[in-house]
Amino acid sequence: METAKKPAKPSGRLGILTPGMGAVATTFVAGVEAARRGYAKPFGSLTQMGTIRLGKRTENRSPLIKEFVPLAELDDLAFGGWDIFEDNAYEAAVKAGVLDRALLDRVRPFLEGVKPMPAVFDQHYVKRLSGTWVKKAKNWYEHAEQLKEDILAFKERERCDRLVVVWCASTEIFLKETAAHRDLASFEKAMKERSPEIAPSMVYAYAALSLGVPFANGAPNLTLDVPALMELAREKGVPVCGKDFKTGQTLMKTIVAPGLKARMLGLNGWYSTNILGNRDGEVLDDPESFKTKEESKLSVLEYILQPHLYPELYEKFSHVVRINYYPPRGDNKEGWDNIDIFGWLGYPMQIKINFLCRDSILAAPIVLDLALFMDLAKRIGMHGIQEWLSFYFKSPMHAPGLYPEHDLFIQLMKLKNTLRHVQGEELITHLGREYYD
Ligand SMILES: NC(=O)c1ccc[n+]([C@@H]2O[C@H](COP(=O)([O-])OP(=O)(O)OC[C@H]3O[C@@H](n4cnc5c(N)ncnc54)[C@H](O)[C@@H]3O)[C@@H](O)[C@H]2O)c1
Repeated sequence: METAKKPAKPSGRLGILTPGMGAVATTFVAGVEAARRGYAKPFGSLTQMGTIRLGKRTENRSPLIKEFVPLAELDDLAFGGWDIFEDNAYEAAVKAGVLDRALLDRVRPFLEGVKPMPAVFDQHYVKRLSGTWVKKAKNWYEHAEQLKEDILAFKERERCDRLVVVWCASTEIFLKETAAHRDLASFEKAMKERSPEIAPSMVYAYAALSLGVPFANGAPNLTLDVPALMELAREKGVPVCGKDFKTGQTLMKTIVAPGLKARMLGLNGWYSTNILGNRDGEVLDDPESFKTKEESKLSVLEYILQPHLYPELYEKFSHVVRINYYPPRGDNKEGWDNIDIFGWLGYPMQIKINFLCRDSILAAPIVLDLALFMDLAKRIGMHGIQEWLSFYFKSPMHAPGLYPEHDLFIQLMKLKNTLRHVQGEELITHLGREYYD
C-alpha cells in the first residue's frame, strides 16, 4: 500500500468546505461547535470516540484513535460552503429542524458567522429545487474558476493551512459515464461547451482537485466516478472517496446481512421502505434523483451475500427499496424492513426491523470523520481512491476490476489496519494461535 511517510502532528487550521449547507452540513457544524464548548458529546464519530487495539491482546494497548494517529483537533477546524439559498448556518439549521432550538441558540453567534457562498447550480440536475443564491457564468469551466477563487479566498479569510471538501448537497439526476468524461482533455472541453453531461457536483470536484484539495462525495452522484477526475486526482496527488454516506437503512443492512451470511441462512427477499420529510426526501421524491439513490442502495446485498458463491442461499432473492416523502416527519425518518429468510431444511422465518432514526444525526459524524481522515491521507501522501474509508459509504469507490467491500465489519477492520499500517504497527489478523502455544 502506498503511504509516503509517517504522519506528523498537524499544525494550523483545517478548513472544511461543504457544497450544500442543509440538514447534514449544519448538523455537523453545529455539533462540532457544541462538542468544542462541551455542551454535547460527538457520539457516532469513530475519530472522536473510537479506540484501536495494538499488538497482542495481553498487551492491553487500546489507545483512542485520535491519540494513535495525529488528526486535526476539533479546535483547529474552520467551516465554510456553498448553497443555493442565502441562509446562514443558524437559519439553515433552524429550517432543517434536526437539532433543538435550545442547543442551536447556544451556538447561534458561531453558526451565524458561517455563511454560504453562492452555488454552482442548475435545476436540470435537481428538479425539486430552485435557488436564488446562484453564480452566473458562461460555462462550467468559468464556474470552476469561480469556485477556485472562493476556495482560495476562504483559505485566506479563515487562515487555514489545509482544506478538504465534503459534498453535502442534494442528490442529482442519474448520469452515466460518457465520452465527455473519458479523460481530462475531453472533460475540460465539455466544461467549456457547458455540456449537460457535466453536473454541478463534477464542477466542484474539478475545482477542488485542481487546487490539490481532497474531495469526499456524500451523495450517490456520479461526480468522481469518471476517468477524467481520477486522472486529475492522480496528477495532483489528491485523495478522494465516496460515495453516499452510509446511514439509516443501508447501515442496518450492512450490519444484519453479514450476520445472516455468516450463519449460512438463506434469503428469499428484503423489502425496505421508509418515510422521510426533510428537503432530501423532497429531492428524492423526483424519480430522476431517486434513481441515483436507488442504484446506490440496491447493490449492497448482492455484494455482501455473493450469490455466485452461494446460489442455493442467495441467487433468487427479491430486493425492493422505497423512499416516501412524508413532510410531517421532517428529518426523523422511520424505516421498515421485512426480511424473509430460511434456515435448516428450508424452513422460512421473518425478521422485521423498525428503525426510528434521524438521518442527519447519523450522517454528521461521518462528515467529521471523513474530513479528518482525508486530511490525514493528504498529509502523508496517500492519493487517489481511499478504499479504507468504505466504512462510511453506501457505494464505496474502488479500483477498476475489484468488487466493492460492503460488509461493515470487514470495512472497519480495513480502516483500522490501515491506521496501524500508517503508524508502523503490526496488522491484526485475529489468528491468535500464540495464546495457546
Ligand atoms: N442524511 C443522511 O443520512 C444522508 C445519507 C446519505 C446521503 N445523504 C446525502 O447527503 C446530501 C445532503 O443531505 P441533507 O439531508 O443535508 O439534504 P438537504 O436538502 O437538507 O441539504 C442539501 C443542500 O444542498 C443544497 N444544494 C443543492 N444543490 C446544490 C449545489 N449545486 N451547490 C450547493 N448547494 C446545493 C440545497 O439547497 C440544500 O440546502 C444529500 O445528497 C443526501 O442524499 C444524506
